[in-house]
Amino acid sequence: MTDPDLLARDRAAAEALLFEWVSSEALRRHCRTVEIALRAYADALGEDADAWGNVGLLHDFDWERHPSVPAHPADGQPVLQERGYPDWFRRAILSHADHAGVPRESALEKHLFACDELCGFVHACALMRPDKLQGMEPRSVRKKMKDKRFAANVDRDHIVRGAAEIDRDLNEHIAFVIAAMTPHAAELGLQPG
Ligand SMILES: [Fe+2]
Ligand SMILES: [Fe+2]
Repeated sequence: MTDPDLLARDRAAAEALLFEWVSSEALRRHCRTVEIALRAYADALGEDADAWGNVGLLHDFDWERHPSVPAHPADGQPVLQERGYPDWFRRAILSHADHAGVPRESALEKHLFACDELCGFVHACALMRPDKLQGMEPRSVRKKMKDKRFAANVDRDHIVRGAAEIDRDLNEHIAFVIAAMTPHAAELGLQPG
């Protein structure tokens, strides 16, 4: 039997489950980006970076097979349970969707929500720039947030609420996520030039 808390920290197991359920490169990359942001926040806060990272990696693992609301993320829950993921890990994943009705209480839950949409938005903003993430300023991201036609599928209100839930100034939160993603630019398809 696997110790649930050990499994929660096992990156190879999390990645194997993600790759088994998700074939889309874009979705794999989104999950990886949220992992990167959560690991960085966990490091900054003295939390468990391996566990936080794996929650990020798996938060949307069921989306490709259940690409609708409210099926996602509820439908992935029995799978995570069968694999042996602990309750707190599954609850964090469930809480990232408002419609699941699970209030975000732990720091992990709040940071997952805060990073989810912002990671996708920063990625979209970076793709528009020749230097990609390099030299990217929060104010340029804020400007893009006001442009309703740009990355129209990203919920701006989610980003604003996310920063509020982790008690961070939005610009500071955006700068943190940009800084977290920058060392991984090549892997995220954001190599300058
Ligand atoms: Fe999701
Ligand atoms: Fe997501």
